[in-house]
Amino acid sequence: MPREDNMCHSDGADQRTPLNFIDLFCGCGGFTVGMERAGFKCLAAIDFNAEAVTTMQTNLSHIKHVLHRDLTVYTADELSGLIGTKHVDVIVGGPPCQGFSTARKVDGANHGERLKDDPRRHLYRELLKYVGFFRPKVFVMENVLGIKTAAGGKYFTRVQEEARSLGYRVHGQVEDAWELGVPQKRRRQLIIGTREDLPGYFLPNLKPAPRALPRPLLGAAIGDLPPLGAGKGSNESVYDVNRLIKHMLNTGEPVRNYLFDVLEIDLAKMLTNHASRPHSDRDLRDFARLREGESSATAMRNGIEFEFPYSKDSFKDRYTRQSRFAPCSTIVAHLSKDGLMFIHPTQRRSLTPREAARVQSFPDWFRFPEARTHSFRMIGNAVPPLVAEAVGRAVASYIDKEYQMNNETIHEDSEGIPKDENEALQWLVPLLDLDSRALKRISKDDFFRGWTSILFLYSGLHPDGALERGDISDEIEDIPGISCLEPRLLKPFFKTSGWPVILVPIAEEAWRRFKSGNFKEEDLYCADAQIAGMHFRIGCSERK
Ligand SMILES: C[S@@+](CC[C@H](N)C(=O)[O-])C[C@H]1O[C@@H](n2cnc3c(N)ncnc32)[C@H](O)[C@@H]1O
Repeated sequence: MPREDNMCHSDGADQRTPLNFIDLFCGCGGFTVGMERAGFKCLAAIDFNAEAVTTMQTNLSHIKHVLHRDLTVYTADELSGLIGTKHVDVIVGGPPCQGFSTARKVDGANHGERLKDDPRRHLYRELLKYVGFFRPKVFVMENVLGIKTAAGGKYFTRVQEEARSLGYRVHGQVEDAWELGVPQKRRRQLIIGTREDLPGYFLPNLKPAPRALPRPLLGAAIGDLPPLGAGKGSNESVYDVNRLIKHMLNTGEPVRNYLFDVLEIDLAKMLTNHASRPHSDRDLRDFARLREGESSATAMRNGIEFEFPYSKDSFKDRYTRQSRFAPCSTIVAHLSKDGLMFIHPTQRRSLTPREAARVQSFPDWFRFPEARTHSFRMIGNAVPPLVAEAVGRAVASYIDKEYQMNNETIHEDSEGIPKDENEALQWLVPLLDLDSRALKRISKDDFFRGWTSILFLYSGLHPDGALERGDISDEIEDIPGISCLEPRLLKPFFKTSGWPVILVPIAEEAWRRFKSGNFKEEDLYCADAQIAGMHFRIGCSERK
């Protein structure tokens, strides 16, 4: 069922083979659907939730190993025996987010004074164990934004520290699903690692997949579906073709794009999972009091009285009626509980699993279990396939560039790229200890040379991490060559990013110049300097 692109890489011979990946904590396979659409081949996917695994196996039956296993028990070694290889290009995974979510209200909290230890926060380690074993070119970990602040940022730092110690160049970036063509307000944290021996930088800006138009609205995604009353609909029904045509005529090209290119409704034989949950009469009367796009909090401020019996202060946001003319609120696993924050824009009921799946950009041919609780949970947990596709395309493009760099002449002798450590230090040292005003005054050429010297000396760091503050470590980094020449460059460094504290003002200036247009993207992410440093060090160790 999934459509194949042509993205592949050369394995060194003439033959080009598709890039492969493993999906850990795969849920029902949102990440996998998108990665496959970006041209990757899934070698294996693992989750310990039986319903999610069965759903993935049913929909993506071409994937040989969709395994129902507990990742705290099942080892990478066992998996390699099963898939018959240790060659894995990419590992993706979304360890559970409940341990990081800012929404957690019961049983302690993930932040602040009510912080409680939660074993789910340690599951990233299972992903890193697989990374350590398979040593993929790239790994991508997806999580809620709360991972950055949970437990005072401890886990955000640990993931990156531990991945760096495995030999990965790591950085965090935030992805915005709406910008990538998903009709939903959903921002998530990605932590991306590229193997330190690979040249080039993974560029931070994800671009919408060609099939997607950015910033679609909720109405476009669900307006063709047959209207339902609460508790009505069925798990399998037929499309209302007249309504579909009318919807397309009224709303035009973006709708056609979303329905056919993203949801692939032409590939679905039947309309599935369009069955609404029942609601009490009291809830239904309260729903009717809400205007489109309004929450109960706003309505109460406008003098509307609701019947719900809970505290009007603590639960003022109890209901939200979504709007056809805006992106939907973030679809969350909690939708399995009551759906009151997801009231249909024009009907008196909450969204059906099919509507939630459409808001998450799952294709219509992807079927979910009949039990709504299970389907809502796996839909809300998933990485929207369109987001995963954008991630996959960025990963493929990084790997493709890495391949080219390995096979083409590198312009190491270009102007402004240091030829050895001595020259790098000679260019960099005059910039150390300058304050921001003094750094601003440095000429374009001198600043560029100082910056490329950093990339030359620290090829294992990513410019995107440079402004990440947090705890400082005093341990001494072992950077051969620099140790005897310039001790100021060795410590201290920021634990999250690995960036030496002394270099951060220079990085800030580089970002300032980039944002004001005085530094181009290829200056900020100057791969030639990074590669020159890598080659220089390889040369040194070979000479020893
Ligand atoms: C956020 S969801 C991942 C969703 C998935 N990436 C997708 O796109 O559909 C987290 C998943 O981790 C699974 N999980 C939690 N602990 C696990 C463990 N110890 N072993 C395997 N899977 C686990 C849960 O069952 C859940 O499906």
